[in-house]
Amino acid sequence: MAKKIAEPTQTPRERAILVGVDLIGDPGLLPLEDSLAELALLADTAEVEVLGEVTQRLDKPNPDTFIGSGKVEEIKMLVEETQADLVIFDTELSPRHQRELEERFGEQVRVIDRTALILDIFARHASTREGILQVELAYYEYRLPRLTRVWTHLARQTGGGGGRTGSTGGVGLRGPGETQLEVDRREIRRRIARLKEELEKVRAHRQRYREQRRRSNIPIVALVGYTNAGKSTLLNSLARAEVYVADQLFATLDPTTRRVELPAGHTVLFTDTVGFIQKLPTQLIAAFRATLEEITEADLLVHVLDVTHPNAWEQWKAVQQTLLDIGCENIPTITALNKVDRISDTEAIRKALGQFTSSVAISAKTGEGLPNLLREVENILFENFAPVTVYIPYREGQLIAQFHEFGKVEESQPFGEYIKIKGSLPGRLLNAYRPYLKRPTPAKSEV
Ligand code: GTP
Repeated sequence: MAKKIAEPTQTPRERAILVGVDLIGDPGLLPLEDSLAELALLADTAEVEVLGEVTQRLDKPNPDTFIGSGKVEEIKMLVEETQADLVIFDTELSPRHQRELEERFGEQVRVIDRTALILDIFARHASTREGILQVELAYYEYRLPRLTRVWTHLARQTGGGGGRTGSTGGVGLRGPGETQLEVDRREIRRRIARLKEELEKVRAHRQRYREQRRRSNIPIVALVGYTNAGKSTLLNSLARAEVYVADQLFATLDPTTRRVELPAGHTVLFTDTVGFIQKLPTQLIAAFRATLEEITEADLLVHVLDVTHPNAWEQWKAVQQTLLDIGCENIPTITALNKVDRISDTEAIRKALGQFTSSVAISAKTGEGLPNLLREVENILFENFAPVTVYIPYREGQLIAQFHEFGKVEESQPFGEYIKIKGSLPGRLLNAYRPYLKRPTPAKSEV
């Protein structure tokens, strides 16, 4: 199905046709229409104007053009009719698909996929040095196998126009006049190597900072959630910090940390993180490793969910999957059902709350429910004791002593070079014991 959905405006924005494909036997997380609606929102965030939509159901992708040849013709006609200069696929395209499609659509038309679009948005929103380096790395890794033509949209974003974008001093993600000839494969590989080196340095610095924070013994609560769920708004309300809030996807790219006092007087650090999205490109997950590591080291996660969103449940699943992928399954989680100021049906909220082990209904905007959220955070980190069995090497004397001082020990006995302690610990200490949850294999002499 192809449909024209808008007339071009006079502003010189890029104009796009969106293409959604339903692969039979490979259902996506969202229904085709909803995934396309999300793509349209992404396009809007990237300041691309959407003029038409085309969808196709396919048994399997065509090896040359991904979609069938009839569909290619249909899109070509729509492109000509609307004078679009961009065709955006909702699925990840192989470099070959991209090349073939560009050849068929003609000189003036660029073909990109969801990944390239998200990369563009990330490039606009990265503001710290680390964020910019991460996006550049993801961009070059994405580009390397696709070195035929540059998507001008990315190349055109010179430092001055993007507002919140910065310059990295010559590594040239948005370098003016960048052409295929100038940037050959070897050059990109060199850049990738250099970016990785620079990122390693930033990472080492961040690691030292994290260790300092850990020594200070202040628990870390990471806000996670689908893009636009309301994480930054929540952090602002909790800490009255001025974190950038916008009704845009991926407004926050760099983690921001704020100190928050809990009702009984304990202090925690809340940290905002990059928003998740379904089909989050693998390059981005890899490039944003450092940012995501921030999540894996948190003592508690607050999963912010926009309950008013028609695909709230799918969004929840997409976030949970990513959390699983990065190894966060053991971190205690509170689900914060956000934006309840928009819902009058209290019964529906009560039902939704019942779906999770630990959940609160909040409105980050009006402040409703925030005291409950803070109380729950305090309970999990400071009041409740979670049962654990750990195997701690004797050299970690401090951890052993800490368990005895702050935890409840039910059983403590030698286990080879380890001491096995069975008991319970307050949530704020669990993180330090996470490496010792697994029962070690006994040394040969003990067998
Ligand atoms: P990313 O940076 O994309 O990850 O988004 P985010 O999760 O940080 O969302 P953000 O706080 O930027 O909020 C997204 C939009 O939702 C903004 O327009 C907010 O004003 C709105 N919003 C956030 N919380 C609430 C709420 O409790 N109620 C209502 N009505 N709107 C909210």
